[in-house]
Amino acid sequence: MKSARKAAPTIAIIFGGTGDLAKRKLVPAFYNLFLDGWLPEPFAMIGLGRTDTDDIKYQNHLREGVVEFSRSGEPVDESWDIFRNSLSYLQSNINDPASYQELADRIHALEEAWGTRANRLFYLSVAPKFIEPVTVHLSQAGIASDPERDRIVVEKPFGHDLKSARELNQLLTRTFQESQIYRIDHYLGKETVQNILAFRFANALFEPLWNRNYIEYVQITVAEEVGVEDRGGYYEGSGALRDMIQNHLLQLLCMVAMEPPVTFEAEEIRNRKVDVLHAIQRYSREDVGKFAVRGQYGSGWMKGTQVPGYREESGVDPNSGTETYAAVKFYLDNWRWQGVPFYLRTGKRMQEKSSSITIQFRPVPHLTFPTTMAENLMPNRLIINLQPEMDIRLRFMAKKTGLDMALTPAEMVFDFNGANSHSQSPEAYETLLLDAMQGDATLFMRSDQVEAAWDVITPILETWESRPSLEFPNYAAGMWGPENAEALIAREGHTWTVTFPH
Ligand code: BG6
Repeated sequence: MKSARKAAPTIAIIFGGTGDLAKRKLVPAFYNLFLDGWLPEPFAMIGLGRTDTDDIKYQNHLREGVVEFSRSGEPVDESWDIFRNSLSYLQSNINDPASYQELADRIHALEEAWGTRANRLFYLSVAPKFIEPVTVHLSQAGIASDPERDRIVVEKPFGHDLKSARELNQLLTRTFQESQIYRIDHYLGKETVQNILAFRFANALFEPLWNRNYIEYVQITVAEEVGVEDRGGYYEGSGALRDMIQNHLLQLLCMVAMEPPVTFEAEEIRNRKVDVLHAIQRYSREDVGKFAVRGQYGSGWMKGTQVPGYREESGVDPNSGTETYAAVKFYLDNWRWQGVPFYLRTGKRMQEKSSSITIQFRPVPHLTFPTTMAENLMPNRLIINLQPEMDIRLRFMAKKTGLDMALTPAEMVFDFNGANSHSQSPEAYETLLLDAMQGDATLFMRSDQVEAAWDVITPILETWESRPSLEFPNYAAGMWGPENAEALIAREGHTWTVTFPH
């Protein structure tokens, strides 16, 4: 949520500096911030890793990531030559105190040259088991102890269940203050997701309608075309519920359902969001079957190419019981949303990549037109397309042009891509890194949010784990998920916005 203010001089220290995230996301994001004039001055990034390499080779490796993954494409030589000087490498051993001493020396040398105590951003892009040694050693080296200027960014997965998330929070808060900890959920950095706040709270038009009196149901879909790619090992221990619903989709639900915040302060916004998580009805394990559906993709066809089933992917157990699709129906116990179903679904290897939020309004209370005129009558519907389409569509009824009085659905569309060209739209990591450098935690997860989100899904997790599905695989790659996901919402007389292709 960037303010126009530039962040103070910053040193970003990346644990996992030779990993995929640094190459695909972090460095392209820093580079684009540099191009757009947002990067702090001075700025330095120190990548840490086990590999034996030097600064020049490391910079070249990162440049490849910019060429391949940055929205700005191939870097322009003059600007890259300036930017690359801020990138350096430190070969290190995450478990060895000597490495942290070397890191401290590197940081102090930079600060001495700059003549100032910089903000230090420690980015933990490492497997969960390394978080403990990193925090212990950082604390012992005394380089992350200024609560105003030192920040720790933690990547997902944030715990494996409620118990482990609590333990992780306790571990982090033994060494750092909560205000220093930035737990990333990259969905919150997406432009279209941030726009939900603008749409809801900078316009008076929809707010009076934004409740159970006018809204019949809400749907949130995050459909992916990709399978598990090369992440089978990780995904086997995760599944769609943990990987997507616990974090990204529940956060989207919070943005849609939260009460209007009084101010645009991080704590106020996060308080309103955590209220939503507390209001979500918890199911008993016996009821899980009525509220949640899981699926796993089998082999199938994606855009004319045959693709393997999940159980054939590398790193995956040939009898795996891990779900690659999850659909859940949630109800909120509060005045605004009582009785309104929130349908969430996400899956891999679905027919198309598409993330959207559908707000379905109730039908008109009385039908003025005879049924012959109103045969196409459809209640109003607002669709917020998050990706790859980036637009907001309001469906309303209009008169069909002609001499007779007939009705037809029409749409008003706000197109983000039309308003701002795609390549100008910042990537989620640009927003989030800049916010972390500026000390703005609005778009990051607080410990109680993470724990409440785990608490919401715990009955489903436990039930699914204790009763492996006998139906897997139950949808073919290239479909919209298992058929019983249709039944989940058909009971209420509803259908998914993109319907199941029979
Ligand atoms: C990640 C999940 O958090 O989000 C991945 O671990 C998933 O499995 C990804 O593919 C989706 O993110 P995006 O930005 O591509 O929608």
